[in-house]
Amino acid sequence: MSSDSIYIVDDEALARNGLKLALKKKNYNVQGFGTAESAIKAIDKNPPDLVLLDIGLPGMSGVEALEIIKSRHPEVIIVMITAYEDVETVVSSMKNGAYEYVVKPVQMDALLVILRNAFETIAMRKEIQALHEKYLKENLPCFIGESNAIQDVMELVAKVAQSPDTPILILGDTGTGKELIAKAIHYKSPNFKGPMVAVNCAAMPKALIESELFGYEKGAFTGAERSGKAGLVEKAAHGTLFLDEVGDLSAEAQVKLLRFLDTGEYYRIGGTKKHAIQTRIISATNRDLSALVAAGEFRNDLYHRFAVVKLEVPSLCERRDDIIPMAKHFLLEFSQKFDKTFNGISAAAEAALKEYNWPGNVRELKNLIERGVLLSEGPQLMLEDLGLKANNGRQDNRQPGDSPHLPSISPAGIDFSAIIANIERAYFEEALKLADGNESKAALMLNLTRDKFRYRRQKLDGVR
Ligand SMILES: Nc1ncnc2c1ncn2[C@@H]1O[C@H](COP(=O)(O)OP(=O)(O)OP(=O)(O)O)[C@@H](O)[C@H]1O
Ligand SMILES: [Mg+2]
Repeated sequence: MSSDSIYIVDDEALARNGLKLALKKKNYNVQGFGTAESAIKAIDKNPPDLVLLDIGLPGMSGVEALEIIKSRHPEVIIVMITAYEDVETVVSSMKNGAYEYVVKPVQMDALLVILRNAFETIAMRKEIQALHEKYLKENLPCFIGESNAIQDVMELVAKVAQSPDTPILILGDTGTGKELIAKAIHYKSPNFKGPMVAVNCAAMPKALIESELFGYEKGAFTGAERSGKAGLVEKAAHGTLFLDEVGDLSAEAQVKLLRFLDTGEYYRIGGTKKHAIQTRIISATNRDLSALVAAGEFRNDLYHRFAVVKLEVPSLCERRDDIIPMAKHFLLEFSQKFDKTFNGISAAAEAALKEYNWPGNVRELKNLIERGVLLSEGPQLMLEDLGLKANNGRQDNRQPGDSPHLPSISPAGIDFSAIIANIERAYFEEALKLADGNESKAALMLNLTRDKFRYRRQKLDGVR
């Protein structure tokens, strides 16, 4: 429909055609209808910007039509036309969402002022809507991922996001970014203007999950709110319902979800009225869901309905190429947040970050950088700002400076030079490994000059 379109609904052909002609002259795109029924049919197919709606119509009255049009197309502006100033009808129409009213015979000048104002409102609304959509698109959650492993996952995300109701199951260790990926799916999907409702099934008492998800009717159980309550499924209509920690769903909630996934329909607790809505269900867990199925704690059929598409998010250790880009991203983020001037990460700190085994994955990395930025001044984030050891989590948790586990001196004595050489060699090898063979970086880690490092390395034959 081109812009500035108007439907006129009036059973008096003379009045209708007169108005139509006059408005066409003013460059509006106008169509006329003799009954509310025919107009509603056309509006459902192709809603105009504005409807001029006569109140006294044969068949369905203008007041009834107003209610129907407003409920189905709330954005359409409706101006009522009334044969005489019937105050009550006019007031109730205004209450039901009419924009204005004009009295017959219509004064063209007055009507044109109303239309000009209405179309200004419409233009403003459209502009706000376009801005809102642009904002949503531009403010997608910032997802960092350069490794091949995560690129593969994101490729799949881009594909599955396109269909607005395919269920998706996201699996992965704690802190790997499952919720962020769920958000990315939502914002890349055709449902992105709709709500994204997140439910943490583990944080909710099992007995309450069902009523939280599906809502209840009044009097459904003791303590139920008088008016009944809409569930989260309903709140996620035309959007995304994110079920986090699905392994913790109660058996009752599992049955209801299965039915809902199969049919798109559900009943509120204590209700007999069938509700139908469209939403996408994304579920996630860091538990082994197939083990829960095998143990009889999770329904096999529901597992398969959830996992129409299964996304497995690799742990941070399985995508070490992402560590530094993520660390730099978080460094800038927190540097801005805490008004600091960090501009980089020292080579030793980078090496330690790359080497660490990250049991808490991205969340742990993010927290670590946040703490480092908060407690230090920069401009570089140094190894000591991280509170990590160079090889933490891999072999040794001792702090530098802690006394090493030394072999005790036997009565026969020890080979002091060989032991020292071994320790030295171990550190040199470790530093070179962390620095990917770069001597300058390795030297920096050991607080040696590059020359000293080279000299000693040559003496310790066999250091690779
Ligand atoms: N690829 C990424 N780029 C940027 N930030 C990320 C990325 N992955 C995760 N994060 C951030 O790491 C934190 C943890 O991510 P998220 O909450 O999505 O993990 P999760 O897998 O849902 O964890 P859990 O299993 O504990 O619920 C969040 O602050 C998130 O913004
Ligand atoms: Mg999560």
